[in-house]
Amino acid sequence: MAFAKSSKIWMNGEFVDWENATVHVLSHALHYGSSVFEGIRSYRTPKGPAVFRLKDHLRRLLDSAKIYRIDPAWDEKALFDAVMKTIRVNRLEECYVRPLIYRGYGDVGVNPRPCPVEAMIAVWEWGAYLGPEAVEKGVDVQVSTWQRFAPNTLPAMAKCAANYMNSQLVKMEALDNGFAEGIITNTGGRICEGSGENIFLVWRGRLLTPPLSASILPGITRESVITLAREMGYEVVEQEIPREALYVCDEIFFTGTAAEITPIRSVDRISVGGGSKGPVTKRLQERYAGIASGTMKDEHGWLDFVPGGER
Ligand SMILES: Cc1ncc(COP(=O)(O)O)c(C=O)c1O
Repeated sequence: MAFAKSSKIWMNGEFVDWENATVHVLSHALHYGSSVFEGIRSYRTPKGPAVFRLKDHLRRLLDSAKIYRIDPAWDEKALFDAVMKTIRVNRLEECYVRPLIYRGYGDVGVNPRPCPVEAMIAVWEWGAYLGPEAVEKGVDVQVSTWQRFAPNTLPAMAKCAANYMNSQLVKMEALDNGFAEGIITNTGGRICEGSGENIFLVWRGRLLTPPLSASILPGITRESVITLAREMGYEVVEQEIPREALYVCDEIFFTGTAAEITPIRSVDRISVGGGSKGPVTKRLQERYAGIASGTMKDEHGWLDFVPGGER
């Protein structure tokens, strides 16, 4: 296994041992992609473990479910408590949190409605998503030959498992070509996002990022960075971005719960700016990490401390 197992997984309200957290092979989600999920991080802070923007992640999870007409038995409060308990039960100081709501085993046709709606929450220790050096040195990426799904096909605002078939093609192509990640363009040929990250360009002192209408996931890290950058005095513009802007802008970085803020040092083997982490990326990284790790003031109330984990 490429990651560290923890001990218990929350399944439909009960804790089960990691090895026993299984589903039937005829579960609807396995055949038709009918599940929605989240990726969340809990950070080690001087006051004990704290989850970053948990309510916002759970709201997006329930929004994803609503888009797909999935009606789970757990509301935001119940899922909030379940996430906290799962972290506590596994005694982790710092972890990644993966809640998933899925259509289970009940019928085998495309119509999902006869299948039960089930849920699980797993937590595990997970380091830097794009490699240990990525956050400092930056990553080399390519513009993918694969496009994002068109508007009104698969809803990009929903974090649905099915969307990640597109992301998997992008990721495998990038890795096969020797890159860490791929940048996806949308059907209009404009910049969209990475296979699991949103993207920002620094252009003559301003920050540019694609709007939701560009078929992106409404990233919570993206929203945090927009907020922090504006507070730090940068102008942030959500606008359509042509591919060639990637080659001539001053800095580029990915944002995501897993990738956090990762600088991009080259695109299609063309170096970005000076080919190393730029000053705007660095300032934003420091601010983001400072808040998440509890060493800078959490003015927005983004941290929720794990009950029982206090120091
Ligand atoms: C396709 C895609 N875009 C963007 C993001 C970043 O979203 P967030 O910052 O909420 O993790 C993710 C990660 O979840 C993703 O999978």
